[in-house]
Amino acid sequence: MQAIEAFPASNNETNLQFNADGSLRHLLSLKGLDKALLVDLLDDAQRYVTPPGGTAVRNRSLVGRTVANLFFEPSTRTRASFDLAGKRLGADVLNLDVNTSSRKKGESILDTIYTLQAMQVDIMVVRDASAGVPAYIARHVNDHVSILNAGEAEMSHPTQGLLDLLTIRQRKGQFGDLTVAIVGDIMHSRVARSAAHGLHTLGVGELRLVSPAALAPDPAEMPYASLFDNLDEALRNADVVMALRIQRERIGSLDGIPGIDEYYANYGISAERMQLAAADAIVMHPGPMNRGIEIESSLADSPASAITQQVANGVAVRMAVLERVCKSMERR
Ligand code: CP
Repeated sequence: MQAIEAFPASNNETNLQFNADGSLRHLLSLKGLDKALLVDLLDDAQRYVTPPGGTAVRNRSLVGRTVANLFFEPSTRTRASFDLAGKRLGADVLNLDVNTSSRKKGESILDTIYTLQAMQVDIMVVRDASAGVPAYIARHVNDHVSILNAGEAEMSHPTQGLLDLLTIRQRKGQFGDLTVAIVGDIMHSRVARSAAHGLHTLGVGELRLVSPAALAPDPAEMPYASLFDNLDEALRNADVVMALRIQRERIGSLDGIPGIDEYYANYGISAERMQLAAADAIVMHPGPMNRGIEIESSLADSPASAITQQVANGVAVRMAVLERVCKSMERR
């Protein structure tokens, strides 16, 4: 039986991310990261991007450091890319198998964390279905430990946000003249929240959030974005279209949520619908992707798709973030 734990929120989580000298200690959210820091992280990540088939960039900047991947929720992309990122920087990487960990026997998350901390884990990469977990852990670890949020409930997925920003910058060159449409289950999407926040900080021209009414966010939450329930209107002249899956694991009741056929008819991104967007528009998806539900399968594999580029950028972004918090460790 798993212990029932509460993860109280704090009002100063953005401050918690920084050391006294302003360097990045934890990455919990893109909130609180200013434009200069976001651009720096994207520039760092760009150095780690290699063309398909090229030899992966490696260095030894994390030799002697230990990274633990603690994924208390399923993951393919984020977990694999943090694993590869740590190894390519020379770190020891521990992938804790949560199904056989002592949390299953009722150990509290903090006791799990203290146990790993005692084994000289320096960086803990945390994914959890409960809001507040990464910050809660960050408030309790020793000074030498950094916490990286690898996906927190519907709240935040900062490294996904960074890889989405990097992909858009690579394909479009800038943000100020862009119209970006994020389409789907915005209400339950940590990907949408992190992308929206990062795009706003980088000065995106126009941000459109498109969803059925039952999956729309609170309009006050992202006041810089325009909310749409009509996909065709929202796609008009868009430069970037990001499709999201319906996050059924975070939806209590399916009342008011369209069924699969109705959803695809009204919110599925197809090549035909992309004709409404700008002629050189790109389509993105964070994965995991449900082909034929939120995106037409052939579109996902077309030249307009940046989906595999997003995956490739995931490793580069996570290398940049690991290196950044590791450097700040040396100054503590
Ligand atoms: N985009 C994303 O977070 O994918 P995974 O759930 O596979 O990590």
